[in-house]
Amino acid sequence: MVTLRDITSFGEIAAEDDPVLDYFLTTDAVQDIQSGKILLVLGRKGSGKTALVKHFTETQPATHGQPLSLRSYPWEAHAALVDKGASVTEAYVASWRLLIAIRLASMVTDLGSSKYTDTLKGLQAFLMENFGTLKPETKSILSRPKLKVVGLSIDPKIAGFSLGSITFGDPAKENVLGLELDSLANSILNDVSNAIAELDIQKLHLHFDELDQGLDLLDDTKKRMLIGLILAARDIKGSSQLRANISPIIYLRTDIWEQVSFSDKNKITRSSTVRLRWNEKTLKELIESRLKSKLGECVKWSNIEDGAKMRGSQGKLQHMLARTLLRPRDVIQFLNEALKVAHDRNDDPLVFINDDFNTCREQYSEYLKDELADEIDPHWEQWTDGLRACSKTQTITFQKEDFLKNYKKIRSKDNMLDGEAALEQLYRFSIIGFLTPSGGGGSSWTFRYSDDNAGWDTTASRLKVHSCRIPEGSMAVS
Ligand SMILES: Nc1ncnc2c1ncn2[C@@H]1O[C@H](COP(=O)(O)OP(=O)(O)OP(=O)(O)O)[C@@H](O)[C@H]1O
Ligand SMILES: [Mg+2]
Repeated sequence: MVTLRDITSFGEIAAEDDPVLDYFLTTDAVQDIQSGKILLVLGRKGSGKTALVKHFTETQPATHGQPLSLRSYPWEAHAALVDKGASVTEAYVASWRLLIAIRLASMVTDLGSSKYTDTLKGLQAFLMENFGTLKPETKSILSRPKLKVVGLSIDPKIAGFSLGSITFGDPAKENVLGLELDSLANSILNDVSNAIAELDIQKLHLHFDELDQGLDLLDDTKKRMLIGLILAARDIKGSSQLRANISPIIYLRTDIWEQVSFSDKNKITRSSTVRLRWNEKTLKELIESRLKSKLGECVKWSNIEDGAKMRGSQGKLQHMLARTLLRPRDVIQFLNEALKVAHDRNDDPLVFINDDFNTCREQYSEYLKDELADEIDPHWEQWTDGLRACSKTQTITFQKEDFLKNYKKIRSKDNMLDGEAALEQLYRFSIIGFLTPSGGGGSSWTFRYSDDNAGWDTTASRLKVHSCRIPEGSMAVS
């Protein structure tokens, strides 16, 4: 007999804390990343970036190694490593290439720890000499005053002269820093690539997670550093000089990617990017995979709810999903809140009833507001002005004019965005959608979270606030 009494939660809402591999759902993104074509994985907050990194690095450590987390990365210190000989866009490519090369060196010495080859021995010597360990912390790799050239089979050279070491922060050598970084990176990559081939690894992946931790406020320098990282990763991925196949994969929040522009951005977005998208079918599978692991092999969604329709004759699953932004984190949080409500009842067996889903909405909305604040605050601190202007209209659908009138009255002094710009941002984060005429004389609502190709229509006059009902006033949402 299936009863919700047997579980205390549907899991943690961040993959770091969640035993996600117990119930990982293999989505199309997994295939895409595995194929080796992908350089960039884009997704909103809570869309499953870290879950993917965990899946690859923990289930296939022999070809995916350790992830490279950029949480608390010293972006400021790295900012000084400008390549003065490169264009502004490429100013950081050389320093990132070196960082990636050293991380790869650490990875292959780890993967080859039971083997003995001259290449591996040399890379070990390089790491030990410079860092005193085979596993230097990412954040400390470029923060040494100097790196010594030890153990590499090809000497890094500049204009025919071998480099004995590279010194950071020496103003007299500023102009050659880029060249030095490049030649050292090339020497290390050459040995790394040979070691990979010697170890018989078909392709070595390197997953970069948690860039967003230091990048939600992007100034020009950080933009250049982010672009540099992507170009460096692309360079290593496509390098024909290397003997082995190396595949760096960068996981990034969509809103951060939207803020940078450079000449090859379009090309990368089109040909080597996967976007994490979820829909009713895949989210249901995600839930059922958790049910299977927690409640039993054959347990389905229909076993944990009473089947009664919600208002508007909507099934409970659809009702819930309409209140999320179709992100796994939202779904897990909603179910956890509903489960808490259900546990207060004495029914046996315990399954979800409509009341559980209605009562949990308030708590869930608090969560969603915090989650959105994490994303939107860095772009627009006064975004709740926009929410309040929406709720002032009292209805879920409203005319743009009414919003603009209300917004004018509400707009706080330090809020830089005018009404039109505010609407565009609210649309960008899926808090509002607009009515679009569709074929056959009908019309439908366009929301960005379900159709991320649809841009904001500045001429749209009929708008609708998302039914997640973020707590801000008295919106009459059913
Ligand atoms: N493919 C999947 N299978 C099972 N659970 C998943 C999957 N993808 C994501 N989840 C779950 O969804 C939640 C959010 O995922 P995750 O923490 O990976 O998001 P994220 O994109 O890294 O978010 P953030 O931008 O905040 O770091 C976690 O509980 C995670 O376990
Ligand atoms: Mg994450």
